[in-house]
Amino acid sequence: MDGNLDNDIRAVVDADRAHVWHHLTQHKPFETADPRIIIEGKGMRVWDQNGKEYLDAVSGGVWTVNVGYGRAQIADAVRDQLMKLCYFAQSAGSIPGAMFAEKLISKMPGMSRVYYTNSGSEANEKAFKMIRQIAHKKHGGKKTKILYRDRDYHGSTLAAMSAGGQDERNAQYGPFAPDFVRVPHCMEYRKEELGLGHLSGREFGIAAANLIEEVILREGPETVGGLCLEPVTAGGGVITPPEGYWERVQEICKQYDILLHIDEVVCGIGRTGNNWFGYQHYGIKPDFVTMAKGVASGYAAIAICVTTEEVFEAFKSDATDKMDHFRDISTFGGCVAGPAAALENMKIIEDEGLLENCAAMGDRMMANLQALMAKHDIIGDVRGKGLFLGAELVKDRASKEPVDEKDVAAVVAECGANGVIIGASNRSIPGRNNVLCFSPALIVTADDVDLITDTVDRALTKVFG
Ligand SMILES: Cc1ncc(COP(=O)(O)O)c(C=O)c1O
Repeated sequence: MDGNLDNDIRAVVDADRAHVWHHLTQHKPFETADPRIIIEGKGMRVWDQNGKEYLDAVSGGVWTVNVGYGRAQIADAVRDQLMKLCYFAQSAGSIPGAMFAEKLISKMPGMSRVYYTNSGSEANEKAFKMIRQIAHKKHGGKKTKILYRDRDYHGSTLAAMSAGGQDERNAQYGPFAPDFVRVPHCMEYRKEELGLGHLSGREFGIAAANLIEEVILREGPETVGGLCLEPVTAGGGVITPPEGYWERVQEICKQYDILLHIDEVVCGIGRTGNNWFGYQHYGIKPDFVTMAKGVASGYAAIAICVTTEEVFEAFKSDATDKMDHFRDISTFGGCVAGPAAALENMKIIEDEGLLENCAAMGDRMMANLQALMAKHDIIGDVRGKGLFLGAELVKDRASKEPVDEKDVAAVVAECGANGVIIGASNRSIPGRNNVLCFSPALIVTADDVDLITDTVDRALTKVFG
């Protein structure tokens, strides 16, 4: 930290305690203790109001700052763009909007159109609205149902929550929007919950996908227009898909004429290593891809709904019909700081070989976590892809009974006390908020990875013995 604080830090903390409502936070403890305020970030590290340094193993808390903190190249591009043009509604184009769209599409064979918006939730809602409008335009008002999966998350707005597979997150916020229908999860570690305990590997993957088909047949294929899935489930417990799963999902969508919407809000722009997107590991051909967090690494707010040309074409068939186009707007989808930052963010990932570093460091971290699993019985499973990893904590490996949430929180707190910020599934699945989450920036080094897992090792010993 450079030590230069323009503000009296006590006044900052007091103003925060008096007026700021923090996300996902119970505020009662702040009546007697200070909230954490992050003052500065450089590379992989951040500093709080007390000058304490942390290695950030969660990229800004929620899988976002993929290229690390303090990137002058992005800040300069954003500043220059703001001075040239800060904003114009996206009903008109902009230079960075056009240039980033072209660059993004070059990384997404089969996809073609870029719809700018300003949060992951909103990007998902755009896809939902397009699916609904297609249902009206092409299917006579049928096919309005959108399937979503148990344990997946698609955002905090009410329609996104209607597609939310996390019951604890949804509790007390209903009733939800109609015609969102849940399909079972595909988590092999908890396959007994699916009645598929006798299957493993590819057989399990195909059977898990067939559970989606069962729901389609139950609802009536003529009523189902879309299927929305995370390529690797994030907050629901870092769930990697089983072998054979995606292939079968794709077949099912084709067979029943269901549009496939992949939510890459977490996985997108490199997080899973080697590929730009999670879906690209599995040979998926989506109709919609939504993305947000890593698109500009948090240097500016930007989210995107990308579609195929075929989807796009459905919205311009009749220029004389005033209802024919996608009648939607997102005010801040017109902020040009977003694509200006996204262009530089993507350039950094290319110039520094971060897709490759992500894969290599992800492998190292996975190996370290597996070594921790060999040492600590409390770890029941480790999962992940690239720098998107989780460790599920269980009281007993045979019964897979989750550890108490307070113990998960104690591990996270102990790591924090020792200068490493890690995450955990939180208020997500009832009784299943027991997964430690790791998502360091794509610039992470081998030493950083080892420091993260060594710190977790000591924290597990301290909390569980
Ligand atoms: C998979 C996924 N989709 C959508 C969202 C919502 O994004 P936002 O918070 O930008 O609305 C999130 C946020 O964590 C997410 O993890």
